[in-house]
Amino acid sequence: MTNTSEQLLDIEKIRKDFPILHREINGKPLVYFDNAATSQTPKQVIDCIVDYYETKNANIHRGVHSLSQIATDAYEAAREKVRAHFNAEHSHEIILTSGTTHSINLVANGYASILKPEDEILVSAMEHHSNIVPWQILCQKTGATLKVIPMSHKGELEMETYKGLINENTKLVFVNHVSNALGTINPIKEIIEIAHDVGAKVLIDGAQSAPHIKADVQALDVDYYTVSAHKICGPTGVGMLYGKEDLLNMLPPYQGGGEMIAEVTFEKTTYAGLPHKFEAGTPNISGGIAFGAALDYMNSIGFDAIAAYEMELLKYATSELQKIEGVTIYGTSPEHKTAVLSFNIENLHPYDIGTLLDKMGIAVRTGHHCAQPIMEFYKIPGTVRASFAFYNTKEEIDAFITALKKAKSMLL
Ligand code: ALA
Repeated sequence: MTNTSEQLLDIEKIRKDFPILHREINGKPLVYFDNAATSQTPKQVIDCIVDYYETKNANIHRGVHSLSQIATDAYEAAREKVRAHFNAEHSHEIILTSGTTHSINLVANGYASILKPEDEILVSAMEHHSNIVPWQILCQKTGATLKVIPMSHKGELEMETYKGLINENTKLVFVNHVSNALGTINPIKEIIEIAHDVGAKVLIDGAQSAPHIKADVQALDVDYYTVSAHKICGPTGVGMLYGKEDLLNMLPPYQGGGEMIAEVTFEKTTYAGLPHKFEAGTPNISGGIAFGAALDYMNSIGFDAIAAYEMELLKYATSELQKIEGVTIYGTSPEHKTAVLSFNIENLHPYDIGTLLDKMGIAVRTGHHCAQPIMEFYKIPGTVRASFAFYNTKEEIDAFITALKKAKSMLL
């Protein structure tokens, strides 16, 4: 790429860490542009999982035997890495879950015994279904009202309308840090301040921000923040719910089972303290440890360098894509979003474009991206979404643009 980006990251070295990037798909070199769905996994994280099963495998928090203690120490060390990465005050404010969806449902379930019919909750118009449906279920259970913070055609939240919607009945506000379908970076600090002015609590879905932005939960003063490890070079099936200590203490347990109790009799059960109250059953132990290894890996590269490099990729891809006749890009300008290009080509269905790109080795996501209200807003069936990571290259973008032109000429 340019001299600047070569200085930002040693891409050749980084790509050697990802074995999958060197395989072929349909006889062509894989160009993996579906990073917003899941990121690829570096050898350092794969090795960590192998090492766990080869040298540490035992159940945690349970055994007096040494192996159980070794596994427990490794798991708790990973929790501490997650705490440090997101700058939570206490490691017991980090609940290790199966991912963002689990984290959100845990909170939504908890508020079922807290909200009253007169309460209101606000959700943004650009949420993933996992940050909509749990709140609809919560409203059905409690009689509370769900209201929507609208978005503009530019793909940004209507902040003035938000200020008008929020009132003393608003108990909860749910917004993603970054939209999965558009890449928009939402002004969450301002959203949180406005909510706190009326005493509402805020949950920020950080699933799409975590690969690009290092969030500081204390600086944000956010009440709940959720992340999935598999979007940040970690394994699937593990993630985080951060919650302020007093708020987590206030919520009832989500699931009952082993490890989440203090004492059990048939008459009455008392619950363990944080974080164990919310971690019933045997967790994804190797996944939790590998989540820590993934954060180590990302931090060894550095989030400032990642963001700067991805911005160069995004700007280059945007300008090349705009040269193709009939292309509509949805969402805001590169400066206000992460490395996501959501687009359509006039008279073509996104599914057909995605299928032909796949034949040429290029992986993109097509469809509604689990964000149907956004598609409804733009009156489209879906988009083609190319999402970049720090291990992608300008050469891959060139291959993508060439393949896109070919797909267009085959379909029209
Ligand atoms: N939420 C993931 C995506 O946006 C799966 O593709």
